[in-house]
Amino acid sequence: MKKIGGFFALDLPDQVAGRSVAALWGLSDRPHVSYSNGRSGLNALLKIRPGKCLWLPAYCCDSLAQAIEGTELQIRYYPITKTLAPDFEYLRGQLQASDLVLVINYFGRQADLTVRAYAKTRPDIDWIEDRSQALDPGGEDWADYVLYSPRKLLGVPDGGILVSLGKPLPSRSLAHRTNADFIQAALLRYEDIHEQDNAVWHLANRNYEAAMAVNTKPMSRLTRHILRTTDAGWIAERRRANYQYLLETLADLAVLPRDDFGFVPMGFPILSKARQDLAAQLAAQGIFAAHHWPSLPSSARDFPEAHQFAERILTLPCDQRYDQDDMAQIVAAVRGAL
Ligand SMILES: Cc1ncc(COP(=O)(O)O)c(C=O)c1O
Repeated sequence: MKKIGGFFALDLPDQVAGRSVAALWGLSDRPHVSYSNGRSGLNALLKIRPGKCLWLPAYCCDSLAQAIEGTELQIRYYPITKTLAPDFEYLRGQLQASDLVLVINYFGRQADLTVRAYAKTRPDIDWIEDRSQALDPGGEDWADYVLYSPRKLLGVPDGGILVSLGKPLPSRSLAHRTNADFIQAALLRYEDIHEQDNAVWHLANRNYEAAMAVNTKPMSRLTRHILRTTDAGWIAERRRANYQYLLETLADLAVLPRDDFGFVPMGFPILSKARQDLAAQLAAQGIFAAHHWPSLPSSARDFPEAHQFAERILTLPCDQRYDQDDMAQIVAAVRGAL
């Protein structure tokens, strides 16, 4: 029975000017399931696709390795090349029927054209395109599944979305939320309009991320709503323009090759042998660059190149919150620090 009266819940406008993020990601017309984070979406998939092996790139975040929890799968790692593409010479010789392979679109860029061609020849493998860093990687869809983790790209508090491009999906999560902890850090920062309480919301977010685990909770309605009402076109345009500015001014430090597939960047990754120092100098000027990733689940002995990436890559922000003046400030700070 419909409840009538009582206090107002959060009331959010229900319109979008252009094409929404949800539409761009196929959430209005493609089969998908959603969870509270990306690793839980992957975990749910692994539970219904009981292959022997999940292949992860050696350069990836720790939390992806949690995705095998409660399954019989074994994780194996594959190397990536200098341009952050999967090393197919290696992988090709190793894959067994019904293995699952996860391919990351690093920093938003489509992994590699050879991946798409090879995937077509191996329908016995489940291919997962990880778009946690990719609003829109450009190019055609090629994988069996696409995985999103929207809080890395947009102002949403949670979410992990698994879209199917043809193969079966896990069933929808029926759990529902009984607390609002997931919104606390994002809300604290939102309300702190002059950004004076950084220590408070930064700590809240760190604790939130650290406590995050594989679970069966669905993505919040709030995140779904924001995805449905956020204009993807505007975000893409701002990100591309900012990235272009950094590419022109910091070309000598850029990690990604110039040839692109029209992707929407997550940030502008640069290479520095003194990454930690540089990050500290930027932070002292109020510029917070991300470290991808502080710890890798793969072995440093077996994958020294991946660990070198993790040691040297620093990701400069170039997202929709910023304009070209902000980019100029970043460039000046980087040049001043080097
Ligand atoms: C590339 C990539 N994929 C997947 C994940 C897992 O996403 P989540 O933190 O939402 O579980 C991460 C986490 O950092 C990631 O960096």
